[in-house]
Amino acid sequence: MNITTRLSRPDESATIHEVIDTARWGITRECVELVLTLDPQGYVLGLDETGRALGVGFGLGLGQTAWLGHLVVRPEARGQGLGTRLFTELLEKVKQAGRWPIYLTATEMGAPLYAKFGFVLDGGLTRWEIPENSQVKVDESWSRHPDIQVLKIKEEDLPEIAEFDALRFGDNRGELLALFYRLYPENGRLARRSDGQLAGYVLGGTLGLGPFVADADAAGPLFAEALTMPLEGRPPRSFTFLDANTQAAELCQRAGLVSTRTWVRMRLGEGCQPKDETIFNMSVAHG
Ligand SMILES: CC(C)(COP(=O)(O)OP(=O)(O)OC[C@H]1O[C@@H](n2cnc3c(N)ncnc32)[C@H](O)[C@@H]1OP(=O)(O)O)[C@@H](O)C(=O)NCCC(=O)NCCS
Repeated sequence: MNITTRLSRPDESATIHEVIDTARWGITRECVELVLTLDPQGYVLGLDETGRALGVGFGLGLGQTAWLGHLVVRPEARGQGLGTRLFTELLEKVKQAGRWPIYLTATEMGAPLYAKFGFVLDGGLTRWEIPENSQVKVDESWSRHPDIQVLKIKEEDLPEIAEFDALRFGDNRGELLALFYRLYPENGRLARRSDGQLAGYVLGGTLGLGPFVADADAAGPLFAEALTMPLEGRPPRSFTFLDANTQAAELCQRAGLVSTRTWVRMRLGEGCQPKDETIFNMSVAHG
């Protein structure tokens, strides 16, 4: 079969999402649209002679680093080299854009492929969810912190949040955070200490919750808020974070959440020092 590849166009979220959905990961079309908003040519598509998309993947540059994700080949087209070809092109794309280091989160199926390209293991990731037919147990004491106040995020808070986030996430992803905020302005919360200092934030996201980054003292109050705020019909909330964040795992356990899925974060190159113990929810695709 003669397969061609090309970069995405801004209006291709339906086609791209349909291919990704063959992996049954629960990735929403909104998530694909988010990538295309940040970079309309963010995906590479592999197409057959009729123009049908057989495989996709994205490579997205943030301020300094790059993230690769959503690499999926339709089941009937696997094992013929397309996954490797798409990945090679994505890697080249972000390298040419000068982004470094390059990150991805891998499933068990994807990890051997990435290791061949020199990617190394950089921490385990676990998703925690509320079990079906189960009530979440929010401990009232979490939200009662003497020095922390939780407030709704306003548009003018965004530059401060981007700066706070960059010091912990390890790169400036202000544009991505602003997009999440504007998608779900009702679900943005920040935590401030009595001296006015920012101590954490949580945003609404395409999988219920979006980025959630906090220092240790703000984690409980924001976690209680993230567990209880209405999500307006979006997917049930879940928390995905590095296993290095033991405080997050403890809060999840106390709230009755259970671990449901695992990935590994992989990295090519050096130069970014994320503080994993401050990250309470991340997107497996965009960090
Ligand atoms: C991972 C995936 C994208 C690879 O695509 P592909 O077109 O099959 O990839 P290739 O044909 O280039 O093969 C690349 C490697 O994938 C692995 N692979 C391919 N077919 C496989 C199969 N049937 N079973 C297990 N592993 C397989 C092998 O490690 C292979 O390397 P090799 O050819 O040197 O042995 C594809 O299997 C897929 O979409 N899987 C489901 C989604 C997923 O897990 N994506 C990765 C997210 S991190």
